[in-house]
Order: sequence, then structure tokens, then C-alpha cells
Amino acid sequence: MTALDDSIVYLNGEFVPLNEAKISVMDRGFLFGDGVYEVIPVYGGRPLRLDEHMTRLENSLRGIRMEPPLSTGEWAAVFSRLIQGSHDQSIYLQVTRGVAPKRDHAIPPEIEPTVFAMCTPIAPLPIEGIKAITVDDIRWQWCHIKAITLLANVLLRQAAVDRGCTESILIRDASAVEGAASNLFVLVDGVLITPPKSNELLPGITRDLVLEIALQNGIAVQERKITLSELKAGPEVWLTSSTREIMPVIELDGAQVGEGVPGPLWQRMQALYQDYKEILRRPS
Ligand SMILES: Cc1ncc(COP(=O)(O)O)c(C=O)c1O
Repeated sequence: MTALDDSIVYLNGEFVPLNEAKISVMDRGFLFGDGVYEVIPVYGGRPLRLDEHMTRLENSLRGIRMEPPLSTGEWAAVFSRLIQGSHDQSIYLQVTRGVAPKRDHAIPPEIEPTVFAMCTPIAPLPIEGIKAITVDDIRWQWCHIKAITLLANVLLRQAAVDRGCTESILIRDASAVEGAASNLFVLVDGVLITPPKSNELLPGITRDLVLEIALQNGIAVQERKITLSELKAGPEVWLTSSTREIMPVIELDGAQVGEGVPGPLWQRMQALYQDYKEILRRPS
């Protein structure tokens, strides 16, 4: 039992302690990984980029042929009940297709979705930089959907952990696509490059925010494919995600990236990103 077990979570219209939240083994999320999710960071009690996260959720649901189970206002009411205090935390929400009468791949015609949400503290982030490896992208072709079916991502991340690293950078057709649970930025000839949105990667909310901050601050950016050789030669390589923000990669496949420390552009972006978060923390 941990302190987390007592925290209040949302499950199908009710707020219950985490250790009392139960779903059926016939839930298609459990049997097939048939569902989608979101992770939304919260600073000073305020969700970061809530509208963008909600839009992505709707897109993910549409992608798996589901309707939004709650309205935007209903979600907001759930979140405000789950968010406790002003420390950094994140909302995890998951919608599965629901409990089916029998285990059959085909989608049952009438089925109530299972809707779950919880809020957990965000762990302090390492800022000394991370080590990463490159691996073949073994995932499916609909990576733009934030599906709970994460077996490939789990195995890809574990490949990094097995080699004493934090993240895997996924390679598809000789291009670097994204991390196992993060988006990718590489500095190439003074321009910050990130792969364009497509079915090959998750449209990261942090990715979009980093692009926006770069544009507002005169940092040259471009959305285009990144070749494996550009990745390996990049003086700066970053991986972004909602809860891990902007991670500078200082070692890639055992070789030093740039000077082997977080680079000057990362230092600048990190300061700008922290300023952006600070605005949320300020009482309005
Ligand atoms: C595969 C993948 N790409 C990118 C991201 C980053 O997305 P976001 O910035 O919205 O957290 C994630 C986040 O979990 C992810 O799982």
C-alpha cells in the first residue's frame, strides 16, 4: 500500500479511493488494449494546454470509432475535483470501449465506455541530460492515435533501460521519428528540426508548445524528416513530453552528443519553457 492508494480517482461517474476503483475483466481495455488516454500536466492547480489535450483526445477517440463520453465542461468538473493543492501534478485519463458480454475482436453495437481519471504528483526532473539509444520503430501505422495499446512502446523503452539509458529514439525508413514516449528535436545547421505531424508519430502537445515558443523568440525551426545521420551529428538532441518537458540528450548510442552536456539552445529553451509554466502558477 502506498499513499497513492488513498487518493480519490474518477471512475464512470463516481469519485472513489484508488484502491476501491475496480473494473471488469471483460473490459475491452483489459482484453484488447481497446482505448485511448491523455496525460495533462498541472501547474499551480491549472492544467497546461487543456484545450489542446481535449482536442487530441477527441481525435484519438474518433480514430478508434468512439464518441467523446463527456463534454468539455464535464471533463473540467472532473479535473477540478481531482486536482489537489498547487504542487506540480498530472492528470491521467483513460477511455476504453467498455465491458463487452463476450471476448470478440469485433466491436459490440451497444457498449458503454469505461471512463477513468486520476491525478498524481510530477516527479522532479533531471536537468543534467539523459542517455538514449536508437532502435527500429516496431510500432503500428497509426501512431498519431494516443492508444493505450502500448506494448511496443513498453518494449522499446525497456531496450533503453536495459542499456542504462532513459529513452529510445525510434528509426523508421532511415529517419528518426520520435522517442518511445516523447517527441524529437535535433539542431541541424543552427535550425531546430522536428519531424512533421503524420500517422508515424504522436502529435505532442509539448512539441507544439516548444515550436510556438521558438517562433515567438526568433529561434529558427523547421518541420521536416530527420535522417539518422543528422540525428547522430546533431550538436543538440532533445526529447519532449508533458511530464518530462524538454530532455536534452547528452549521449546517443554510447557516443557523446555535442559537448556531452545540455547545449546552449536547450538552456535558452528551458528558461523560456519554465517562464511559460510560471505564468500558470501565478494567481490571476
Ligand atoms: C509516443 C509518444 N510521443 C510523444 C509524446 C509526447 O506527447 P506530449 O508532449 O503530448 O506529452 C508521448 C507522450 O506520452 C508519447 O507517448
